Amino acid sequence: MEPHVGVGQTVAKIILFGEHSVVYGHPAIAMPLPTLRMTARAVPTDGPSTLTGLGWSGPLAQAPARFASIARAASVAASFAGHPDAGLNISTDAEFPPERGLGSSAAAAGAVIRAVLDAFDTPATREEIFSLTQEAETVAHGRPSGLDAVATSADAPVHFQAGVVTALDVVPDAWIIIADSGVEGSTRETVAHVRHRYDTDRAATTAALDRLGEITGEVVTALRARDAAAVGRRATEAHRLLAGLGVSNEQLDTLVAAAVRAGALGAKLTGGGRGGCVIALASSQKDAVRVEEAMLGAGASATWVHAPEPGQMAGEVAR
Ligand code: PMV
Repeated sequence: MEPHVGVGQTVAKIILFGEHSVVYGHPAIAMPLPTLRMTARAVPTDGPSTLTGLGWSGPLAQAPARFASIARAASVAASFAGHPDAGLNISTDAEFPPERGLGSSAAAAGAVIRAVLDAFDTPATREEIFSLTQEAETVAHGRPSGLDAVATSADAPVHFQAGVVTALDVVPDAWIIIADSGVEGSTRETVAHVRHRYDTDRAATTAALDRLGEITGEVVTALRARDAAAVGRRATEAHRLLAGLGVSNEQLDTLVAAAVRAGALGAKLTGGGRGGCVIALASSQKDAVRVEEAMLGAGASATWVHAPEPGQMAGEVAR
């Protein structure tokens, strides 16, 4: 078949529990956000490859360093499809911001890979697409854990431990409000900071990481019991522990406090920290709106609301 316009889609993700402690072998839970989509298009061309999207447009070969994983995604997918030298006009369209711990980089790589495979009518299994995405992400992020690559193309929450990914058969029985602090997170920096603490203050750091690991385990049990209040309490406790490890900042602490004051079941930073997003849990849509408004009032630059059941409500709460 002739090559044609290929389309690929992935979604944003949040880490519900387990950031940082996952680096030390503890479990983590990540969740896809199906209402925040990343769509890529790939059109084979006789000319050189181009990229349009994520705030940039031009020849792919001249794209700034932050697009390294997209360039690599296009090339590994074209090779997989048997067209290693193909020119491709690639465009991406994101419904969520980059650099906020929402998985933009892995989502873009995954969407571009799917679009290129689609353009050449090349079938691939989920595992093959995952390993192509990891190849692309390795260029951009050194040694990615794989959590983002899995979660941005999952259709249910995933449990992740020591490189082993399992689908969780439960979803939180709560509304989840995601609030953007408006500040870029710095995962590389915070991971290095925790490592330094671990090396210089082993006992206290290990105790905090161990408790974070335990919390993730307790959350799996609470999710199965549909005990959203217990999940919420663990979120606030996890935030306190993460702040104690030095990976929060004033904006994130302010957003968490505002959410809790407004009646959230609990709230925490999500992802690497020192920027990025906060997640809060609420037991009803009415509470979710109140929590969302409180976080906007406390300085959030954007918010999104995830309903417990799909289709209950898409995207942002109307204000
Ligand atoms: O900022 P994000 O969403 O990429 O999450 C980072 C999660 C960490 O546990 C801090 C690091 C990691 O590689 O797992």
